[in-house]
Amino acid sequence: MNGSLVIVGTGPGKAELMTPATQAALAEATDLVGYGPYLDRVPPTAGQCRHASDNRAELERARHALALAAAGRKVAVVSGGDPGVFAMAAAVFEAVERGDPAWRALDIRVEPGVTAMLAAAAEVGAPLGGDFCAISLSDNLKSWATIERRLKAAAEADFVIALYNPASKARPHQLGEAFALLRAVKAGETPVLLVRAAGSAEARVIATTLAEADAAQADMRTLIIVGASTTRRVGRWIYTPRGAKP
Ligand SMILES: C[S@@+](CC[C@H](N)C(=O)[O-])C[C@H]1O[C@@H](n2cnc3c(N)ncnc32)[C@H](O)[C@@H]1O
Repeated sequence: MNGSLVIVGTGPGKAELMTPATQAALAEATDLVGYGPYLDRVPPTAGQCRHASDNRAELERARHALALAAAGRKVAVVSGGDPGVFAMAAAVFEAVERGDPAWRALDIRVEPGVTAMLAAAAEVGAPLGGDFCAISLSDNLKSWATIERRLKAAAEADFVIALYNPASKARPHQLGEAFALLRAVKAGETPVLLVRAAGSAEARVIATTLAEADAAQADMRTLIIVGASTTRRVGRWIYTPRGAKP
């Protein structure tokens, strides 16, 4: 098997936020596999085949990519942001685990990218300056009860919380429910940031508080950051100090 598979992330949006290593991996690939809008971010290379698929078909897409690599192609699987954060890298390794044992001998590697949480934080200052965690609100692959348990634990532990996948047409109520759960534990004045299209030319920030946060202002291109008890404003920026010692 002379094929290879690299899993890359195109970053949050702006071309400059795609790493040079990812750009090189994309230029060398014979085949690109990914969700259509992410493939559209990749500049065309002559002779390269593009295999666009539906956003939900992650395991199927991973198997297709592995089969192409096993057939000798140089495949790049394309995600947005970082490929290891709620994205395709885990799907590829799951497909390897469940699939043809010969896939374990393939040349597979992951190139990191700028994830939405980092791009969103940079739009407003340094809200992730202290301990933080990331939770996806999508219950497509895990139960809502699990998400609620993790939200409550993160709030009680006073982490800054980054919320990915806050809403979609199929899941319109979940962010509102998450805010209600967090309000039961955290102070109403806790800073909340709704950052849409972070790291792109269309970036938009809503800086509010947990008491006033409106779930209807988020969509599937929005990343939410809920502060810790130490997160605060200085001028027009929001930051979380690195230490909480007096
Ligand atoms: C399936 S996850 C993929 C995350 C991606 N792998 C990453 O590292 O950013 C999709 C979610 O990421 C967040 N997201 C992705 N790009 C974003 C951006 N430019 N601005 C704000 N949120 C973004 C949104 O919460 C969206 O619903």
